[in-house]
Amino acid sequence: MLKLNLIAKDKNSKARAAWFETDHGVVETPIFMPVGTQGTVKAVNQFYLEHEIKAHIVLSNTYHLYLRPGTEILEAAGGLHKFMNWQKPILTDSGGYQVFSLTELRKLKENGVEFRSHLDGSKHFFTPEKVIQIQRSIGSDIMMVLDECAPYPCEYEYAKKSVQLTSNWAVLNKNAFYNSEPRYGHRQFLFGIIQGSVYKDLRKKSAEDLLELDFDSYAIGGLAVGEPTEMMYELVDYTTDFMPSDRPRYLMGVGRPENILESIARGVDMFDCVMPTRNARNANVFTWNGTLSMRNAKYKDDFKPLDENCNCYTCRNFTRAYLRHLFVAEEILALELASIHNLYFYLELVRIAREKIIDGSFIIWKNQVVEKISLKN
Ligand code: GUN
Ligand code: ZN
Repeated sequence: MLKLNLIAKDKNSKARAAWFETDHGVVETPIFMPVGTQGTVKAVNQFYLEHEIKAHIVLSNTYHLYLRPGTEILEAAGGLHKFMNWQKPILTDSGGYQVFSLTELRKLKENGVEFRSHLDGSKHFFTPEKVIQIQRSIGSDIMMVLDECAPYPCEYEYAKKSVQLTSNWAVLNKNAFYNSEPRYGHRQFLFGIIQGSVYKDLRKKSAEDLLELDFDSYAIGGLAVGEPTEMMYELVDYTTDFMPSDRPRYLMGVGRPENILESIARGVDMFDCVMPTRNARNANVFTWNGTLSMRNAKYKDDFKPLDENCNCYTCRNFTRAYLRHLFVAEEILALELASIHNLYFYLELVRIAREKIIDGSFIIWKNQVVEKISLKN
């Protein structure tokens, strides 16, 4: 198992401050994982990722890396850590979600999923065994099982079948994991993914099925797919109670800063989302006083930093007026500077959350922050 070492537990919520260790280093939780789908966190180089943003761990995608550059190249490079020159931990998603969200003409079968590449239309088949093998070639520190992420809305009967399929695949994932070895001399952990759409009894069933298989730890999947936010919080709250408290709990694909804080309060330790990087590339930046849209003319002579309370590389060195100019002129530096700021903001958010959990003031702080950061400027 992947042991979570507890430092403090909040008295007024289910939040915890903790850490876990992989062979590529320690991860302090709660943590946000920047998304590096294709072996790069878009627009941000590895030096800034490590030294300015201070990411502990990044996420990458089995689906994308399998299609391009392919496992042969990854193996020849000595794994993804060497290939992308990132020596801290890496978690890879299994491709389950990407196959369901990106590809056309996918066919769900008992033993896996057939799909056409979003790049060239070529046909591929992912099985639980195959995605374990691919993740062995990638060499991620944490691998995810192949699952089915049901869409929203989703009929009960469909969701029930989907949970059964995900549980059947979980057995095959686990067997493939035990019948194979890491390639590069460091340990790899495997997480199960709890599904069940918006149905509590199915969430419970999914959690029980997976816990029986004793994965290194567990994630909550199938949320933030369009359901109301309050419903997501309720399901997160419900599901974390079934997840072992001595292992990190990962909520996949979440979310906005306020979603992360609310989910930390409900017992979640790990998050990933494209939002900080994707929004940055669309000129939307997060601040402690709400979001800013950097193409707005009102910033043309605003010589303050993006956020006066931010100590990131961008805010230490550049003004809103300059950022606006870069976006309007379509200069590529705009994407880099905004991405650095947004990721720094997300990492600061979870770092301060951790501090507040430790000093006992998490809920008061969280409620104040959620109100402010949700504002639109
Ligand atoms: N990313 C966001 N949601 C999901 C999910 O349900 N499954 C997987 N594999 N990845 C996700
Ligand atoms: Zn900043």
